Amino acid sequence: MGKNLRGKNFLKLIDFTSEDIRYLLELSKDFKSMKRAGVPHKYLEGKNIVLLFEKTSTRTRCSFEVAGNDLGMGVTYLDPAGSQMGHKESIPDTARVLGRMYDGIEYRGFSQETVEELGKYAGVPVWNGLTDEWHPTQMLADMLTIEEHFGYLKGLKFVYMGDARNNVANSLMIVCAKMGVNFVACAPEELFPEENLVSMAKEIAAENHCTVTLTSDPKEGTKDADVLYTDIWVSMGEPAEIWEQRIALLKDYQINKEAMENANQEAIFLHCLPSFHDLKTKVGKEIYEKFGLEEMEVSDEVFESRQSLVFDQAENRMHTIKAIMYATLC
Ligand code: CP
Ligand code: NVA
Repeated sequence: MGKNLRGKNFLKLIDFTSEDIRYLLELSKDFKSMKRAGVPHKYLEGKNIVLLFEKTSTRTRCSFEVAGNDLGMGVTYLDPAGSQMGHKESIPDTARVLGRMYDGIEYRGFSQETVEELGKYAGVPVWNGLTDEWHPTQMLADMLTIEEHFGYLKGLKFVYMGDARNNVANSLMIVCAKMGVNFVACAPEELFPEENLVSMAKEIAAENHCTVTLTSDPKEGTKDADVLYTDIWVSMGEPAEIWEQRIALLKDYQINKEAMENANQEAIFLHCLPSFHDLKTKVGKEIYEKFGLEEMEVSDEVFESRQSLVFDQAENRMHTIKAIMYATLC
């Protein structure tokens, strides 16, 4: 297979071919098998990486840390207040300093421009751990989870319900188009993905013999779906005041028993997480007190059901991030 991705940045999936993504998925499977069998794989011993987080994270941070350690690398974590970046030092300067010390840089933050700029100046691979526009590392875990369940990707019907303009939705539309998966964005028109992105995704999909469809009708959207996917209704970086508007727009787009029953019998439920499916979180409780909603983008019943593979998906973040680092550093 042997694609050469050495030295390449991993900033968004439109920069990668379907073959590149296939290669990374196969590599992820190898790393997952090694991890499960307890086979050491310190292939990157002696290297060091730095993780820059301007937004909070559980899965992405821990995946980079564990994957880095498993590969034998030294890992430095810098929290939002833990560096000069952006406050006293520009992005190009930060990139050039870190590139002299580290072999790879992960960045999670706000604008895509920042991660692109880091990638331009660092001289070492930069990996996008989420921006307002894209969440590319999540996509490999999602595709791996789907393929593990069905045994294939091509021809499946994948339905994303919710805020179809956010980083996860944008990225899913592109990765599905690249991997031959029929993508449906099921959302109110106000939250449809940007037109130019949809046109680009449709072109990519045509090359890979699949489709990209937008619908505001949950019945039509979820009908015969193989995968139902959702994400939180208000993303990191968006103002808290927007909750009221989003709830009004998205309350009919919750993934619940009715949606699952309209999908294929063997359909699976996925969510990048974190999720508001009960009242066990601070934000969940606040929303309940203000708007009376006990569960939001997904019902607790579906989240906890046999069809929900969200924790396999979360675990797969680590295996796939390991593959990305290995492929770009080795
Ligand atoms: N899915 C995801 O990116 O989770 P974190 O925000 O916890 O990293
Ligand atoms: N759309 C969400 C994804 C979290 C992993 C956010 O940006 O907050």
